[in-house]
Amino acid sequence: MKRVYLDNGSTSFPKAPGVGEAMRRYCEDIGVNIGRGGYEEAYSAADVILETREKLCELFGFDKPENVVFTSGITASINMVLKGFLRPGDHVLASSVEHNAVIRPLRQLEQTGVEVTLIPCNTDGRLYANTISRYLKPNSKAVVMTHASNVCGTILPIREVAKVCQEYGVRLIVDCAQTGGVLKINMKEWGVDALAFAGHKGLLGPQGTGGFIIKDDFACELTPLISGGTGSISHLETVPDFMPDRFESGTQNLPGLFGLNAAIRYLTSIGTEKIYQREMELTQTLLQGLCQLKKLRIVGIPSCEGRVAPVSIDCIGKDNARVAYELEQSFGIMTRCGLHCAPLAHKTLGTYPRGTIRITPGHRTTTEEIYYAIDAIKAVLDA
Ligand SMILES: Cc1ncc(COP(=O)(O)O)c(C=O)c1O
Repeated sequence: MKRVYLDNGSTSFPKAPGVGEAMRRYCEDIGVNIGRGGYEEAYSAADVILETREKLCELFGFDKPENVVFTSGITASINMVLKGFLRPGDHVLASSVEHNAVIRPLRQLEQTGVEVTLIPCNTDGRLYANTISRYLKPNSKAVVMTHASNVCGTILPIREVAKVCQEYGVRLIVDCAQTGGVLKINMKEWGVDALAFAGHKGLLGPQGTGGFIIKDDFACELTPLISGGTGSISHLETVPDFMPDRFESGTQNLPGLFGLNAAIRYLTSIGTEKIYQREMELTQTLLQGLCQLKKLRIVGIPSCEGRVAPVSIDCIGKDNARVAYELEQSFGIMTRCGLHCAPLAHKTLGTYPRGTIRITPGHRTTTEEIYYAIDAIKAVLDA
């Protein structure tokens, strides 16, 4: 049976051409650490990592490569930024469609006396930036927000939110898990204080890569959550105060970062606009096909306006988990069923606790695969 991967919202597959080869080359031909040994191989490996920071700056509209901090991904990044910044008595805002990567650290911080407000989105995941000011308080310190819902793909108006944050002197931390490598993001132009990115989704790189990009003055206000060896100023027992070492203690995931370097090279050679355009063509075909089916409801925006690729459906009269299982068992179609680590988003969208089936085309999905999936869903629902 053929296999069709439609779970790119979880992680992209296949990865960009060249990623596997770059990782193999690092492991088999290079293998050295960076920032430690004083030999040629270590310096040239460090150059690749610096180049990766530079390319990420180009991609996300930032101008200080040393302020690109590598971590294992968005979860680690969001934890480092929120827990390094917020103190008891501070107030923080987030949207009501956040992933648990944001919500769980916020709930932990709440236990320490941080006040949390969730700004309601409507039932298709939309948020209106002009409503934010009414939730701000004198002790508001930050807004943390996803750029797009990982459940239904709805884009949140980060640019407009940034304007409000600037007006009120509140930091803006953005989770671009579902938009990095797909939508144009310009941190400087928009006024984003910190951007958490994942290497393994739209950037088409390996799992366990990602990080955050942070403005200088914001970085100074953060206490590093992790401290340890950096290979720099080793005579001191205190954490370096310069970037990126302030936040990069311990050995880096070098095989992963070599893979990420190759992925970003590929992305920039194609252009994110082209990738977005292609994903939207596929999403449009998918939505049009699904709209014809009577026994399901599309959750979120049923057109390509204001969204990225993840499409969620809720089956009528059939258990979503059963349908997803049949799609996989009988047709080889891989989707994701359930709450997608975002129970709050489902409460907002009206699909909690049953969840949805999420179908996410990717840059290499074919139009035939989308038609095949629509036919398969119809067959399972009609059976
Ligand atoms: C919106 C959103 N935020 C955060 C994450 C977590 O990202 P990472 O896997 O890089 O920790 C995901 C991944 O599923 C996501 O979709």
